[in-house]
Amino acid sequence: MAKVKTTFFCQNCGSQYSKWQGQCTACKEWNTIVEEVIQKEEKTDWKLSSSSTKRVSKPLRIQDIDTSKEARLDTFDSEFNRVLGGGIVPGSLILLGGEPGIGKSTLLLQVALKMIYKTLYVSGEESQKQIKMRAERIHSESTNCYILTETKTQNIFKQIEALEPDIVIIDSIQTLHSDYIESSSGSISQIKECTTELIKFAKETATPVILIGHITKDGNIAGPKILEHMVDTVLQFEGDRNHVFRILRANKNRFGSTNELGIYEMQGSGLREVSNPSEILISKKDEELSGNAVAATLEGMRPLMIEVQALVSTAVYGTPQRSATGFNAKRLNMLLAVLEKRAGFRLGAKDVFLNITGGINVDDPAIDLAVVASILSSNEDMALPKDYCFAAEVGLSGEIRPVQRVEQRILEAEKLGFSTIFVSKYNKISLKPTVIKIQLVSKIEDLVSILV
Ligand code: TYD
Ligand code: MG
Repeated sequence: MAKVKTTFFCQNCGSQYSKWQGQCTACKEWNTIVEEVIQKEEKTDWKLSSSSTKRVSKPLRIQDIDTSKEARLDTFDSEFNRVLGGGIVPGSLILLGGEPGIGKSTLLLQVALKMIYKTLYVSGEESQKQIKMRAERIHSESTNCYILTETKTQNIFKQIEALEPDIVIIDSIQTLHSDYIESSSGSISQIKECTTELIKFAKETATPVILIGHITKDGNIAGPKILEHMVDTVLQFEGDRNHVFRILRANKNRFGSTNELGIYEMQGSGLREVSNPSEILISKKDEELSGNAVAATLEGMRPLMIEVQALVSTAVYGTPQRSATGFNAKRLNMLLAVLEKRAGFRLGAKDVFLNITGGINVDDPAIDLAVVASILSSNEDMALPKDYCFAAEVGLSGEIRPVQRVEQRILEAEKLGFSTIFVSKYNKISLKPTVIKIQLVSKIEDLVSILV
């Protein structure tokens, strides 16, 4: 029996210490350092029996590096492909994080069933029967997806060796454990060890591995922060559980942009890709209601029309309430101050509530003008024509500022049948749209005089 070796790990950031201390010097958190047993035997990690598959790395001149083999694997899910930057890169490690019950297992099982590649779905959380039942709900015919219920990495590698899959999916990294480490599954040292073994496997065989990771209550992927540094791509699956929509975004991507969004709708038969999100984000109603305005925003490369709703009412209690859902509350206060000072609206004694429909969080500054318009509309109790939309930032002196890629926004608005789009006078627009009217505004007073 080898000597038991222990080390202290910070459960928050994964830093390693030789003795206990109250505060982690790396992340400054208190009481997060825990002793974990790591019993090292002579370590062989995972090993393929045929040594021919092991590549020995040699230095190469950059122009001699062959990139043709890096052709990406198509997931047959256009949203997933886009967020990844065009498919799965061979040999990459992808971490998918999200709250329990959000649909991580459903998403990956669905992707596994759709792909033409031989996929191994390893579950440490559900039985093969449960997974089969889920697959039946998704209604997908696949003959190339294998399900394995196992948590020990050494056994998983044995099965991989026999099956030789093209893609491996692990549900979830917190349930795995390796024989080389004695501490329990889900502990920092276990997660680190299992991920290291998987990375080694992925890089040596060029087989991509997708890991599911649980999220702690403060929104971080449970386990060391270094897990996020170890993998190539970190995806986040989010959305309010009461909303029907689920949003997939990349927090980190070594092989693509992190601006892209994938939108899904959870249905009785799995997740449906929402390929035209603007249509669902704008409520289809016949009558015009006050307090509603549509913003032409961009999420990554994709234009997104979003409805903003405001409610302005006389404050019942002394201090007026200001609350915003899906929009930065400080920014809302700033816009209210601008309206008050530059356009002479008395909003000081009013409650203001703002809501971005669809449960989406927007940080594109181009939404400002729509926020201002919806507040004006609710304050005056006057509905805006429902085929108006807005795309501009509002500055502190009440000036309407230009936004990036305005032409793309105009084209999207035109495609969705809007009659007028309000943009900044300072935006350079070279395109000549045929149907939509481009209303140029330079100050907030201009907007007020047109709308009110
Ligand atoms: P799941 O994939 O188990 O979530 P996670 O792995 O992130 O914990 O998702 C479970 C939820 O999705 C559950 O509440 C049921 C719902 N669901 C549907 O609405 N339709 C379906 O077709 C499936 C398979 C699940
Ligand atoms: Mg799950």
